[in-house]
Amino acid sequence: MACSKFEYVKLFEQHTTLLPNTFLVVRLDGHAFHRFTSTHSFHKPNDPRCLNLMSHAARHVLDSLPDITCAYGQSDEFSFALRRKSTLYKRREAKIATNICSLFTAAFCCAWKQFFEGVEMRYPPSFDARVVAYPTERNLRDYFAWRQADCHVNNLYNTVFWSLVQAPTSPLTEQQAQRLLRDTDAAAKNELLFSRFGINYSKLPEMYRKGTVLFRKPVMVSSVSSRDGVTLVERMKSCVVAEHRDVIGDEFWVENKYILED
Ligand code: GTP
Ligand code: MG
Repeated sequence: MACSKFEYVKLFEQHTTLLPNTFLVVRLDGHAFHRFTSTHSFHKPNDPRCLNLMSHAARHVLDSLPDITCAYGQSDEFSFALRRKSTLYKRREAKIATNICSLFTAAFCCAWKQFFEGVEMRYPPSFDARVVAYPTERNLRDYFAWRQADCHVNNLYNTVFWSLVQAPTSPLTEQQAQRLLRDTDAAAKNELLFSRFGINYSKLPEMYRKGTVLFRKPVMVSSVSSRDGVTLVERMKSCVVAEHRDVIGDEFWVENKYILED
């Protein structure tokens, strides 16, 4: 088939192909969510409607792309790990990043009304995406540990900060709260929360403290045989589950070995 004389422009295209035999991690992050969350009056510091909507959108991504073995989300971000041998989109970086990002963003917008009943979406949100290739299992585990440690540090800070600012009696200004917390370590923040507000940090919802991990779990399902309509047939099926698990220690990874294996 003759090509048009314009086709030469394709030669200008550049593709980045990601290293083979590495774990690919795609991290999406809400663009200017400080503004998006304040425009839509999200609860501070955590809005369960948003966290659940984010997990819903991430589940849609896992349902669409079987090469994703697990995902981890907190605040306005979600990370997706692809299996080491994945050949998704021939490992082309741009295709992987943009497809995952648009699947997620579209699902987020489509399901908005289910999670934010009666709240009008004032403008459509957007997310940015980056892809990183990690060569070892330890690197991949440390990546998720890094994001969960970030969740912990930020959530503890934000919980104390907003408790001080929103206190029913003698609330602090944002500046005063910032100054008070400037040089405090985790123990001092926990103590402050408990002594001033009677809040035991470790009793707050796990979704806030640990974030959410989505992964595939094999489950046994039974159905009636199509051959005789009577016999029960059992088979293994993998289901995407969402849990608020610790991903820094070994337990989760030992329990779900397939995430790291091929
Ligand atoms: P860029 O990512 O650089 O575009 O900026 P950003 O404004 O999205 O900031 P960043 O990603 O660093 O941080 C996420 C921001 O989202 C937080 O600072 C909060 O303002 C907001 N946010 C995320 N989750 C919640 C929530 O559950 N409730 C509220 N009120 N705000 C949230
Ligand atoms: Mg952001």
